Amino acid sequence: MNDLILALETSCDETAAAVLDAASGKILASEISSQIEIHRPYGGVVPEVASRNHTVSIRPVVEACLDASQGGWDSIRAYAATAGPGLASSLLIGNTVAKSLAMACDRPFYAINHLEGHLLSPFQEVETASGDMNIPPAVGLVVSGGHTLLVDMAGFQNYRLLGSTRDDAAGEAFDKGAKLLGLPYPGGPEIEKTARVGDPEAYDFPRGLATEANFDFSFSGLKTSLRYRLDRLSAEEEKSRVADLSASYQHAIVEVLVAKSIAACEALKRKTLAVSGGVSCNGTLRERLKEEADRHGIKLRLAKPSLCTDNAAMIGFVAAQRWQRQDPGDPLEQEINPNLRIFSEASTSDP
Ligand code: KG4
Ligand code: ZN
Repeated sequence: MNDLILALETSCDETAAAVLDAASGKILASEISSQIEIHRPYGGVVPEVASRNHTVSIRPVVEACLDASQGGWDSIRAYAATAGPGLASSLLIGNTVAKSLAMACDRPFYAINHLEGHLLSPFQEVETASGDMNIPPAVGLVVSGGHTLLVDMAGFQNYRLLGSTRDDAAGEAFDKGAKLLGLPYPGGPEIEKTARVGDPEAYDFPRGLATEANFDFSFSGLKTSLRYRLDRLSAEEEKSRVADLSASYQHAIVEVLVAKSIAACEALKRKTLAVSGGVSCNGTLRERLKEEADRHGIKLRLAKPSLCTDNAAMIGFVAAQRWQRQDPGDPLEQEINPNLRIFSEASTSDP
């Protein structure tokens, strides 16, 4: 059996494990136990409930992965877990399990940054299919429930933050907008579904910082604008216009993400745009990125939908990259960090 990596991801509400071939990065098994139904009645993730459910789900998820990969414990040569950013009480579960296994089996442990997992996921599977795990120079757009980042990627672990959101993340904008529209949590997929029969030009919602010459984002004005519009509509009107409202709201988010990503590629003369994170499941965003990337001669790399939302395969992919570089791993004493970053302070204040 080849050398394998077991990776765990418990940064928020998904309990996930994956087994990857260490040399190629190929995903042999990936299991996710979703807590969406558990948190739905609360309209968002409840940290205490999330961590309690991780403790229940982690063992079955790991065992299912080992069975599916057909690799026994002896084949696991390294362990990895998300070390941050995320909810402290959730991060601790995956981290403690992976560290305990690494200690018991005397194997290296890799503490992985969740954002780096998302950032590299567009290169996963495509690169591994050809056996080439190099990360080409690219601009990375990470759009998730907690983050909206534009990153200049010179190569593996050589990242510079170009811009980020000043308030809500793109996924948060979808989730909060959906709540205002009376749609269930999580809001992104619901808005996308409702928007399918709506007119994206029906309402003119603000596009935060769209005209400013920087790579930052702002989505809180958009949410406020939706609230004011809804205040002026009767319950009947709101119901009959929910498709148009959803389509216009989605359009405002998508267009600003596309415009800033393309502008970053042009400014930095990067020929590849790599897009990841839960919001990159959105079909309209994927279509618009493709149109604009083609128009500007930019190669678009979209994470596979199964790798867009939180998963452990993306964490294992970063660990596999480190393994291949003969990285000895991280000390077991290293703590989780709910505010972990992948960029130095100097680069964030000097984009
Ligand atoms: O990356 P992810 O699974 O978790 C975080 O690390 O945050 O992203 C979850 C976010 C949620 O805000 C969800 O509403 C959004 O991704 N999302 C979508 C879609 N699918 C998930 N947003 C827009 N359109 C979608 N199809
Ligand atoms: Zn995520």
